[in-house]
Amino acid sequence: MLQTDSSARALIVSPVSGLRGQVRIPGDKSISHRALMLGSLAEGETTIQGLLLGEDPRSTAACFRAMGAEISELNTDWVRIQGIGLGQLQEPMDVLNAGNSGTTMRLMLGILAGHAGRFFAVTGDGSLRSRPMRRVVDPLRLMGAQIWGRAGGNLAPLAVQGGSLKGIHYHSPVASAQVKSCLLLAGLLAEGTTQVTEPALSRDHSERMLRAFGAEIKADPEEKTVAVVGGSRLRGQAVTVPGDISSAAFWLVAGSILPESELLLENVGLNPTRTGVLEVLREMGADIQIENAREIAGEPLGNLRVRSAPLRGCTIAGDRIPTLIDEIPVLAVAAAFAEGVTVIRDAAELRVKESDRLAAMAQELGRLGARVREHPDGLEIQGGIPLQGAEVDSHEDHRIAMSLMVAALGAQGSTTLAGADCARISYPDFIPTLQRVTGSLG
Ligand code: S3P
Repeated sequence: MLQTDSSARALIVSPVSGLRGQVRIPGDKSISHRALMLGSLAEGETTIQGLLLGEDPRSTAACFRAMGAEISELNTDWVRIQGIGLGQLQEPMDVLNAGNSGTTMRLMLGILAGHAGRFFAVTGDGSLRSRPMRRVVDPLRLMGAQIWGRAGGNLAPLAVQGGSLKGIHYHSPVASAQVKSCLLLAGLLAEGTTQVTEPALSRDHSERMLRAFGAEIKADPEEKTVAVVGGSRLRGQAVTVPGDISSAAFWLVAGSILPESELLLENVGLNPTRTGVLEVLREMGADIQIENAREIAGEPLGNLRVRSAPLRGCTIAGDRIPTLIDEIPVLAVAAAFAEGVTVIRDAAELRVKESDRLAAMAQELGRLGARVREHPDGLEIQGGIPLQGAEVDSHEDHRIAMSLMVAALGAQGSTTLAGADCARISYPDFIPTLQRVTGSLG
């Protein structure tokens, strides 16, 4: 049950005994950004089916339109892009605004750095302006890029003077698809080969899509290394975007913890670099079946059927973290409803997401009565203590907002969630869909 309060900024969530029905999962955010970017850089026409219409991909589209790419009106059915060719982006007349989107800013910096003779200024909202950019700025500078910004180039607003780049072999200290993708995109316009080695494998959507657009990519997953050969040309493609497993995760957890649930989640991307959440939930005892597994446009997908099941605590750490990085807030909710202790470690990256997600979940789950200990790189959650409705806050972070809605559905008494509307960043229909599957709209 959901209601908005008089300020219309807070959502009142009342508990329900279960969720039932079918949910078509909206397009993958990572793949949507990449399709818009590669379509803009390619020669000829790109079509995108299933684009995510959240605020983040809208920011990417606005930035690339400002640099000359012809991108049709955004809709889920069909987006058409007339690309302008690699290295051909125009100097924008104004500052490029990445909004709340780290992926937009970090990947775009790699693209802009090699656009010789053109100047770009890049900014974002308050959250993005406080997130570390040195992780991409440092290696781009090693390639020869000229980038300036606050805190020695770590914080936006950033200025980029495009120039010529040379390939490097970069050993990234963080397992980050944004860092890897930024450097691969820079490598398209660099002289020679650009290689990235990561400490653990992160999502590989860029590699898959670059290859499909005609770039020369060499991946060695054993060595956690991927390389791109500079000077490849990109040709427009027809891209089909699968549903986002990170968005499906909210339903997987809600469907598991609410006792009378059965949900069919349609069209979920099942790329193996993203399916850590499935493995962990199954390890915790969740009842999740994959149906109609298939592959579309180089990405595996399927439908997921989740039925309620008792969960038990587990340990989430190590190389698995990058495969479920965005799902940790909602897994913390699952942990609060599981028997026993759940330990999350090696997840310090969560502190530099749209909010400090470790602090946010410790604080807000604590308000609901969960017993959570915060560590520098994780959380320890004593599950099985019934949650009580309370006043909680999204920290203006879309994944915190949706995770807290799921927790509130399983709590006793109603919860008031401030800042719930930021869910639109990655899942514009989340609240209406929740209304439908709780039966509160009949
Ligand atoms: C993303 C990579 C991840 C993820 C983000 C999207 C991407 O970030 O958290 O939501 O599309 O490449 P990091 O690369 O910083 O881990």
